[in-house]
Amino acid sequence: MQLSTLFLGIFAVTLSSVAAQAAPAARSATLGAIGLGVTNLTASKEFYMSVLGLADTGQRFSTPEFDEVILKLPGAVTGSALVLMQYKKPRNVANLPIKLVFYVDDVKAQIEKIRKAGMRITLEPGTAKMANRTIPTGFGVDLDGYALEINPLSGLGKA
Ligand SMILES: *[C@@H]1O[C@H](CO)[C@@H](O)[C@H](O)[C@H]1NC(C)=O
Ligand SMILES: *[C@@H]1O[C@H](CO)[C@@H](O)[C@H](O)[C@H]1NC(C)=O
Repeated sequence: MQLSTLFLGIFAVTLSSVAAQAAPAARSATLGAIGLGVTNLTASKEFYMSVLGLADTGQRFSTPEFDEVILKLPGAVTGSALVLMQYKKPRNVANLPIKLVFYVDDVKAQIEKIRKAGMRITLEPGTAKMANRTIPTGFGVDLDGYALEINPLSGLGKA
């Protein structure tokens, strides 16, 4: 997959999952998954499961290019699956300008979990402003430096 495709895909999934949850009835297509290249499949899988609460779907694929595992938040309308891919021929997957956008019950608690896992917090919740209004959003990073945007579930569909 080209990086540009991956990059655009992240923003597309953000919009599509927001739209899908706002209006579940009229759906003619869906974006099922986004794949991220990671340095260590085992470590990233553990991180996304223990820190972000994703579950292992049990699906595993191995292509000549990469091994992958498929994770998803548990539940019916919980957004795109997350495919973690470890390339067999090393390539750069560190600090790419890509973000995953999560909506959670408790932004601060989620940010603390990311911090406790030893990851950097790049925006403390409640410190950023949008059109002069303080927003509850926080940002951290995952093991490879992908950005994790954390928003309140109550804001889903309003943004
Ligand atoms: C990958 O991560 C796992 C789990 O954290 C660790 O046990 C293993 O040593 C790591 N592998 C490499 C090659 O760093
Ligand atoms: C934001 O606040 C500044 C300073 O208080 C003010 O000058 C500006 O007009 C405000 N902008 C909006 C979009 O409300």
